[in-house]
Amino acid sequence: MNKVNKAVFPVAGQGTRFLPATKANPKEMLPIVDKPLIQYAVEEAVAAGITELIFITGRTKRSITDHFDKAYELETELKKKGKTQQLEILRNIVPDNVTCIYIRQAEPLGLGHAVLCARPVIGNEPFAVILPDDLIDDGQRGATKQMIDKFEKQRKSVIACMDVPKEETYKYGIIEADPAEDDSLFKMSSIVEKPKPEDSPSTLAVVGRYVLSPEIFYCLEKTPRGAGNEIQLTDAIDLLLKKDAVYAYQFEGTRYDCGSKLGYMQASVQYALKDKDISKDFEDYLKSI
Ligand code: G1P
Repeated sequence: MNKVNKAVFPVAGQGTRFLPATKANPKEMLPIVDKPLIQYAVEEAVAAGITELIFITGRTKRSITDHFDKAYELETELKKKGKTQQLEILRNIVPDNVTCIYIRQAEPLGLGHAVLCARPVIGNEPFAVILPDDLIDDGQRGATKQMIDKFEKQRKSVIACMDVPKEETYKYGIIEADPAEDDSLFKMSSIVEKPKPEDSPSTLAVVGRYVLSPEIFYCLEKTPRGAGNEIQLTDAIDLLLKKDAVYAYQFEGTRYDCGSKLGYMQASVQYALKDKDISKDFEDYLKSI
């Protein structure tokens, strides 16, 4: 199997939990301190050696395309004013060797369908899927790099997972698996999307990082609509693991569910406490309240 060079960012979702903020702006453009969520996801992919970024977008998502495009007028303006630091920030959003590709998902048919939309660009290669809502801070190489390292060792699809409280299984894809060679790796035997706690096979939940073999496309083609009447990536993975080994990997780091208000605010506080410009003042402020 080839090296993992491509990452898919499914960004067509509507973000209804953040209305009215997401009425005209994509949820992926909500900032954590001064960077939009999607940029954290892209930086994580680039740090893992990904050189083709494939965004599956929809209506009202134009600002994502603009964000990763060159902003000539703004750059000229900053140059004229001698604002070199800001100019550097703008120019470093994506390195020159990285290509951005945009595919429109015409109908909101679900995460599985979004991934299938990337097939013409992916072809017969393994690839990563990164859900920008799941912000992961591992303080080092990044969650996608961790996933790719595991994939390169196993040469099989790898799904990120973490343990969740039993009462929260209905929010996640839940994995049934046996321990594999080390404490953090599991060989999957089934996966189910958003089961009720009483029906859940375990408390091992899928987090939004996947490295998938291209066989997943054949499975996605055959996947009928599932939970929420959508074509679920989880159901396609369940088909895949019936033909080939699929691993679940308990990554290192803290995951923030930035698709929820609470998770988003927790991430904002934690990242502000690490921000080089405001950490001290922000900490003082938090202490004062
Ligand atoms: C998606 C997946 C789910 C996974 C979750 C992680 O659900 O379908 O299997 O556990 O992401 O964030 P969503 O949160 O988009 O409903």
